[in-house]
Amino acid sequence: MEKIVIDGGVKLSGKVEISGMKNAAVAVIFATVAVNDVCVIENLPQISDVKLSLEMLRSIGARIKIVGKNAVEIDTRDLKNVAAPIAIARKMRASYYLAGASLARFGRTKVGLPGGCDFGSRPIDQHIKAFEALGAEVSIDGGYLEAETERGIHSANIFFDCVTVGATINTILASVLADGMTVIDNAAREPHVVDLANFLNYCGANITGAGTDVIKIKGVSRLHGCTYAIIPDMIEAGTFMAAAAATGGRLYINNIIPKHLEAITAKICEMGAEVEELDEAIIVSRKEPLCRANVKTLPYPGFPTDMNPQIAVLMCMANGVSQITETIWDGRFRYVDELRRMGAKIKVDGKQATIEGGENFSPANVRAVDLRAGAAMILAGLVCNGRTEIEDIHYIERGYDNIVSKLRLVGARIRKINIPDDIIESKSV
Ligand code: EPZ
Repeated sequence: MEKIVIDGGVKLSGKVEISGMKNAAVAVIFATVAVNDVCVIENLPQISDVKLSLEMLRSIGARIKIVGKNAVEIDTRDLKNVAAPIAIARKMRASYYLAGASLARFGRTKVGLPGGCDFGSRPIDQHIKAFEALGAEVSIDGGYLEAETERGIHSANIFFDCVTVGATINTILASVLADGMTVIDNAAREPHVVDLANFLNYCGANITGAGTDVIKIKGVSRLHGCTYAIIPDMIEAGTFMAAAAATGGRLYINNIIPKHLEAITAKICEMGAEVEELDEAIIVSRKEPLCRANVKTLPYPGFPTDMNPQIAVLMCMANGVSQITETIWDGRFRYVDELRRMGAKIKVDGKQATIEGGENFSPANVRAVDLRAGAAMILAGLVCNGRTEIEDIHYIERGYDNIVSKLRLVGARIRKINIPDDIIESKSV
């Protein structure tokens, strides 16, 4: 079993390089199915969700070649079938993007229902609503989503009942080769939606309005390959911003797009951090004690739900009582039990967490219960004096590229250790 071990109490200082965005990378990788040509995707993060996405493409016949440290060539001209094995699909959320891309290219799909972090219910009714509006017959059977269209995908006007990143991306994918103009209303505005649209437009698509709540996709007859670099990961950057603010150090966070970080920057400055924005970097430091604040998570450009656990760590340290209102995921507060094991005073009542700050954390053995919860446990471990051990770190490695080595480079006393299973069994007797 692998663990992360942290001897905390160090102020982080130095330069961090941000990797490509997980949630853009997985969308673009699956989008190559609709391209039916050879694409080179650059600035891919070295994370397990990217490895799994590439594995799924290989399983349906794509030819994949590593052509650089963070670059792969994906040839999707000879795909065998469109059924993605449930065993892989259920390991991550984004596997359902294969459905939209396959519908566009083949007019049919069969994809294992997605997995991903467990925040409670993660419905896909808006994906189904969009596929049906585009002319597909959709069924859920035996853990698979199946969709087929007799007369081909046609354009439609789709008004989402809620702002959904996944369904917005899946609808763009499914309609990119459709006859006519598809219009998505109440679309998600996240940077990774824009990145996907930009990639497809580089391939010859005709998509306008990405980044606003109305996206128009004028179907084209075919797409062609391209070379495309994924945008930087705003949540990885936000996590390192929180690390600088939490430890009271100074981090030069390189390879970012400041605009994507505006809500995060505003909140950590409100709590007492200092932020200097450069063209493609941000410098975060903190000299004064952290002060309380309230946060409400919202779709972009609001404060991202994927920064909820990380900002909670800062609130635990801040003087006063802070509140987090979570509007996206019912089960987002699962990290609270683990933070409580380190002394956090947090009360959760439905969508609201009330955090009584002012205390430092005490070291403990904790678990990463999901990807961003794991990041929060690392932040708490970095701050408290003593040794914190984190289990179930596979969640963290789903979305953070070499986070242990990046933190060591800026002074953290952190390492990953592997405990052979037979030692664990002997201890458990
Ligand atoms: C994406 O998940 C991200 N994952 C999540 O990041 C992120 O938390 C989420 O967007 C919100 O920003 C990827 O991009 C792979 P949604 P997604 O569809 O697409 C409801 C991380 O840590 N909804 O925008 O699954 C849903 O219940 C991960 O990187 C429906 O009701 O999220 C939720 O309340 C975790 N019906 C809200 O919409 C649907 O058909 C937003 O979900 C779809 C969604």
